[in-house]
Amino acid sequence: MAAETSTLPTPPDVVRCAYMELVVTDLAASRAFYVDVLGLVVTEENENAIYLRSLEEFIHHNLVLRKGPVAAVAAFAYRVRTPGDVDRAEAYYRALGCRVERRANGFTTGVGDAVRVEDPFGFPFEFFFDTEHVERLTWRYDLHTPGALVRLDHFNQVTPDVPAALDYINKLGFGTTEKIQDEAGTVYAAWVRRKPTVHDTAMTGGDGPRMHHVAFATHEKHNIIAICDKLGALRMSDVIERGPGRHGVSNAFYLYLRDPDGHRVEIYTQDYYTGDPDNPVVVWDVHDNQRRDWWGNPVVPSWYTDASRVLDLDGNPQPLTAREEAKELDVTIGADGFSYTRQGDTEHGFKVGNQL
Ligand SMILES: [Fe+2]
Repeated sequence: MAAETSTLPTPPDVVRCAYMELVVTDLAASRAFYVDVLGLVVTEENENAIYLRSLEEFIHHNLVLRKGPVAAVAAFAYRVRTPGDVDRAEAYYRALGCRVERRANGFTTGVGDAVRVEDPFGFPFEFFFDTEHVERLTWRYDLHTPGALVRLDHFNQVTPDVPAALDYINKLGFGTTEKIQDEAGTVYAAWVRRKPTVHDTAMTGGDGPRMHHVAFATHEKHNIIAICDKLGALRMSDVIERGPGRHGVSNAFYLYLRDPDGHRVEIYTQDYYTGDPDNPVVVWDVHDNQRRDWWGNPVVPSWYTDASRVLDLDGNPQPLTAREEAKELDVTIGADGFSYTRQGDTEHGFKVGNQL
């Protein structure tokens, strides 16, 4: 399917991850979660879809909730630098042999000329430039809550062959920021960026294609604590899957939630600047128990096993391909549910492994 790299046209100049289109089975339940609890702002809504944005956003939306029969992801959408980059995206994916659809009036309300593709790994990617501008609520502190979500930060994808997916997205122009691997060279996950943060998306090794999570940023750590307190007060602590905590990878403070359909949402803050062209790649040993949580707390197994299906351009769930290489869960979590470094490792102990 893939063309020779040397024959590929220039890739589109991607600016950033811009929005995700989620299919949800109960629009009212999802609205209650994303609007009433998390405080995302409704730009527009009708009986079939809700268009939401974060408080510092000026484009039409960062999240589309669309009512449908099966909970899934319809699009990982990226903003490109110019209208011509939409042309470049179309030509690039046609040269890759991928299925491509272009709509001059866009696929979602508030977005114009756009290209959607089924990428070589089965993910529905969208590229657009034209979008309605809306009020940026940065200074509307009267609307900010203690847990205010201020930006869309990143996507996270599950795919079986991380090095192959990484090679593809590097050629699309994304730089690698961090990786998790082992001494044998097996790669378990990788984080890649266009904007100068740690990532716009990440490739997590597992049965795929699936969507692991979508992440929104808060300004500070205390905003994440406030969300936990609010969920407790609402007797909704069961939507907290993992955290709060600090990541090793990305250095960000984090919290993982599950929405009414089980779609995973991360609340994320305070990663680091990566805008220099020679930004160093950080490589973590899969056996370092501070990689996923800097304080060494174990990762709940559901975080490794659960993820959302993704749709093809006809709206059908993409078939899954199993990961053949070792899974991070299997090499780091014991049968007792607690995490270990290396079995029998006495030099570094229960939590702390080697740095590669
Ligand atoms: Fe994340």
